[in-house]
Amino acid sequence: MHYKKTLLILVFISFLFNCKNEEKTTSEVLIIPQPQQQTLGEGSFLLNNSTGIDYDDTFKVSAEFFKSYIEEGSDIKLEGSNKISFIKDETLSDEGYSLEILPKHINIKAKTDQGAFYAVQSLRQLLPPEFENGTFQGNDIAIPCTTIKDEPQFAYRGMHLDVGRHMFSVDFIKKYIDALAMLKMNTFHWHLTEDQGWRIEIKKYPKLQEVAAYRNETLIDHYNTQPQQFDGEKYGGYYTQEDIKDVVAYAQSRFVTVIPEIELPGHSQAAIAAYPELGCTGEQVEVATKWGIFEDIYCPKEETFTFLEDVLDEVMALFPSKYIHIGGDEAPKTRWKNCDHCQALIKKEGLKDEHELQSYFISRIEKYLNSKGRQIIGWDEILEGGLAPNATVMSWRGFNGAIEAAKQHHDVILTPGSHCYFDHYQSENKDEPLAIGGFTPLERVYDFDPIPEELTQEEAQYVLGAQGNVWTEYMKTSQKVEYMVFPRILALSEVIWTYPKERNYKEFVSRVEHFHKRLDALNINYANHLYEIEGKMVANNNQPAYALETVSKGKAIRYTLDSSEPNINSNIYKDPIPITKSVFIKAGVFNTKEQLGSTFSQDINLHKALGKSITINKALNKSYPGSGAEGLVNGISGSNTRYGDKEWLGFSGEDLEITIDLGEKTDINSIETRFHNGNGQWIYAPKEMTVIFDNEADKQHINIPTSKENLVNVAINAKVSSKTITLKIPNYGIIKEGKQGAGNKAWTFIDEIIVN
Ligand code: ACM
Ligand code: ZN
Repeated sequence: MHYKKTLLILVFISFLFNCKNEEKTTSEVLIIPQPQQQTLGEGSFLLNNSTGIDYDDTFKVSAEFFKSYIEEGSDIKLEGSNKISFIKDETLSDEGYSLEILPKHINIKAKTDQGAFYAVQSLRQLLPPEFENGTFQGNDIAIPCTTIKDEPQFAYRGMHLDVGRHMFSVDFIKKYIDALAMLKMNTFHWHLTEDQGWRIEIKKYPKLQEVAAYRNETLIDHYNTQPQQFDGEKYGGYYTQEDIKDVVAYAQSRFVTVIPEIELPGHSQAAIAAYPELGCTGEQVEVATKWGIFEDIYCPKEETFTFLEDVLDEVMALFPSKYIHIGGDEAPKTRWKNCDHCQALIKKEGLKDEHELQSYFISRIEKYLNSKGRQIIGWDEILEGGLAPNATVMSWRGFNGAIEAAKQHHDVILTPGSHCYFDHYQSENKDEPLAIGGFTPLERVYDFDPIPEELTQEEAQYVLGAQGNVWTEYMKTSQKVEYMVFPRILALSEVIWTYPKERNYKEFVSRVEHFHKRLDALNINYANHLYEIEGKMVANNNQPAYALETVSKGKAIRYTLDSSEPNINSNIYKDPIPITKSVFIKAGVFNTKEQLGSTFSQDINLHKALGKSITINKALNKSYPGSGAEGLVNGISGSNTRYGDKEWLGFSGEDLEITIDLGEKTDINSIETRFHNGNGQWIYAPKEMTVIFDNEADKQHINIPTSKENLVNVAINAKVSSKTITLKIPNYGIIKEGKQGAGNKAWTFIDEIIVN
């Protein structure tokens, strides 16, 4: 009894302390990625010239990193007697650590130097951002007493960078690696070879440097924008083996493993331009000058394997990583189908088709790399035609590749386009710089769960982790790379480090806002969309209404309904705005003085189906669920460029039947909708649509002509009275050879269905 009472009192006291501490947590201890356990104590540790550092060789890298961080960031010298001690703790996991900040000393405990390095990264984020660029003025800095116990959820925490489309200086690559390390990411996937440029020096094959590293010019604007325009400027370069050694050593000193990617059998046109004999036709091709997928791929003949093994020998000598990424994605089989050698090889090896030939190709390379003690990673196409025995799969075309591979007991890394492609747009703002397409805002990245729910707990063990991909077709400068990567990398770092129960988007956003100053000090050109507004239709007493929201706290939303710009005197938004006629809403986020961020605007079209009941015969797609079926009759059309925004619904390869119930017989004059037709992203408008009404005789069928436009409008005029409207929309079908996604079924993306 006595014991219980004491416990109760203790619980009460700790409750009191927690209340007090709560405030401190949000004002002072803000770390990204969020540690698994973090408790605030009383008081603070004063870091100044009385502070010293105590470590042995086990913690050499992390301790020396910390010492230079402090001594280069300020005038403080770590030579005093108030110790920061690095202590070995075998009970912790390999990358785990504990960090105890006490009034008189700081204890960093870890099993490995890498774990201690992550403790240092957490401690770093408790110091003022001025330490990042050496501008800290002052002799003392108070660090709040805190205890952190932390370890990562996933072992593989990666970022990718494509240097084939555009390349970046070694200094920038190091800056990128620094950012990864700060966010406790441990893998840099360096995409070194592409159709548009070969970027790694291979001494045995000088034409890779002379020919494959340069293209004559580069496509400007979108692939689908006709006529295609080029800049007329020669572009290229490559990393020398010395550059690469420098980068690999630099990354090692930050516990980042560099995984090189040498693409095969596809995305190899630059190499074939240098050595045409590696292709099926032997004909001269040029280093690609536009984006997309190219038909000239390596021909699986002996001299190709000799070439690739020679290349991989030099690659392995430079990169000590356990994994070598061999690409495997987007390899059109056109050349192989028409090649005598390839066809004879298919027969000789008893293969079923060209997909099995690709599997033969990859398995041969795998065998070679395995014989040298290395493992392969390949994009999820390596599942087609059978997985190479020891391969790890990188699932990029959604989650299915991951599910399939894990069920076959192969390791997988998740990089689904819907959540991990940082070349996609991140905002609906019309002033965003040009991007390849797609829509992957910060919140979508944050909501990502790398473990597909289809996997059992046992199968989930095969998920090594996740990675953000950065394809640089539309990133010519390192500033643009930073803009696309930050802040989405912050969200991803937390998704892969922190267990879901410790994650909360709203709370994350306040940490991001706090982190801005650190990014400023690091001279990182991050995107800031925190002061943007999100709107959505809601039902208010069965009447349609429009709700506005912003993720940043403590600010007001002001709005207008007459298309004038909102200003500091405009109405403050409180409750959803009733929609009784078509309106044009404009709104902004304001502090007490001025507008922050850009103006949000939304057209709302009050039509006869708005807010009516709607059903779709297929389940929503996990990657592109829009705002549900209701989003097709909410008065709001999707963006013209962001097909993944919440107003577009995407379906993969399915025939759709969409039924709207208007509630009572209604006079109908017209039905309009539109389809996205972003062929580069495998999205095709359908070829036909049928509209069915209550009365069978009123049925209408239309053929939809093939279009090169990104958006295809479809309208029918009717003179009918009907309670229900059903749209039958068959999928476009299989994507043709030579196009992106060839051989797969197309996606259908449909927008608002407007009934008048
Ligand atoms: C890829 O995005 N082609 C892997
Ligand atoms: Zn061939």
